[in-house]
Amino acid sequence: MDKIVIDGGRPLCGQVKISGAKNAALPILMASLLTDGWCEFSNVPDLRDIRSTIEILEYLGARVERSGRVVKVDGSGLRRDEAPYDIVRKMRASVLVLGPLVARLGRARVSLPGGCAIGARPINLHLQGLASLGAKITLSHGYVEAECSRLRGAEIYFDVVTVTGTENLMTAAVLAEGKTVLRNAAREPEVVALADALNAMGAEIQGAGTAEIVIQGVDCLNPARIEIIPDRIETGTFMTAAAITGGDITICNCLPQHVEAISEKLRQTGAEVEVGEDTIRVRGCRPVTSVDVKTLPYPGFPTDMQAQFMALMAVADGHSLITETIFENRFIHVSELRRLGADITVSGNTALVRGVAGLSGAPVMATDLRASACLILAGLVAEGTTVVNRVYHLDRGYEALEKKFASLGAAIGRVS
Ligand code: EPZ
Repeated sequence: MDKIVIDGGRPLCGQVKISGAKNAALPILMASLLTDGWCEFSNVPDLRDIRSTIEILEYLGARVERSGRVVKVDGSGLRRDEAPYDIVRKMRASVLVLGPLVARLGRARVSLPGGCAIGARPINLHLQGLASLGAKITLSHGYVEAECSRLRGAEIYFDVVTVTGTENLMTAAVLAEGKTVLRNAAREPEVVALADALNAMGAEIQGAGTAEIVIQGVDCLNPARIEIIPDRIETGTFMTAAAITGGDITICNCLPQHVEAISEKLRQTGAEVEVGEDTIRVRGCRPVTSVDVKTLPYPGFPTDMQAQFMALMAVADGHSLITETIFENRFIHVSELRRLGADITVSGNTALVRGVAGLSGAPVMATDLRASACLILAGLVAEGTTVVNRVYHLDRGYEALEKKFASLGAAIGRVS
């Protein structure tokens, strides 16, 4: 199993290029199942989760060709309607096949994703939405089956803002008969990117990016060429790296408008954040000022940046209250940060981070994708050597992160 080894204490300086967004690429690749012919996707990041998605598409019968960061998918050969346990357990976002399969084949059988480290993460709202569109939902032997000869448009209200729930219902509704309205829909940029991709394929979707999305069903979609948007969480991770190491990083190929909440929070800690058209320059400062943060659905501060920001607050000059409102168990990285010398107390969904003068390197264990990034950030500023174990979590969502940090001057490497 690979490890990341870091000798901390160096300010990171230079330029870094952001890769395509994992959480945009996954639903967009799945949407290729909605049409015959070759869809072409560019700026697709080279990640484990993308390879898992390609495995699912090929298992279902699609043809996939990949050359560097261009992936082509032909959904013509779609012949299976089932996503088996062995595939879903590797990547819970496999549930995103539900919408396209029911829309295209009238039937889907998908292994229920179990919980994960950060929470139970049920898919009840996905299933309620599909039932509203006329699908017959049955649960048996760990699988969910959804059946309907042709979905009919409906008004769907989400009790809780759900990103993949919104995406699944969008991909189900595009071929339904009549109009579908999604209320209290997720507003994330990845939802907008999926709507843009579907509209490029001939769908009629309006309101993506707002809490109310209107989808007029069409009879069929056509293949399209789509570029994946930059990853806003990778962008925020590098912004935080500049702040935590007191460095000066220019982030290229990003969309500053997607990280406004992160920019604002970092400014409050004293960092200088300079925004260009597709660049952001962040200069860290000393001391780092402690600030409170609460995670919220977009455009609020993203839950996927909570762990990374906690690493920064661990070395700030006061007390920071971090409140996690999206997932019920997303503080697993706290015990690992404590091993590096952080002073953090957790009570329910709130963590009180008392900044310390410095962290000291130690072996730590990654428990999920964003916790991995948090521990690497902490290692970059800790005195001495930090070894982050179980980096397979990291490889799910970051493309060659250690190489990018090394290009910015970090003493970091991967050992098998
Ligand atoms: C997406 O997960 C992202 N994953 C997550 O990123 C991200 O943390 C999350 O949205 C929140 O922004 C992908 O896009 C592939 P949700 P998702 O449905 O869609 C509850 C990463 O690190 N809920 O928006 O699974 C749920 O339990 C990952 O890249 C229900 O109760 O998250 C959670 O508390 C981690 N019932 C809240 O809603 C449902 O049917 C938000 O979850 C669905 C969700």
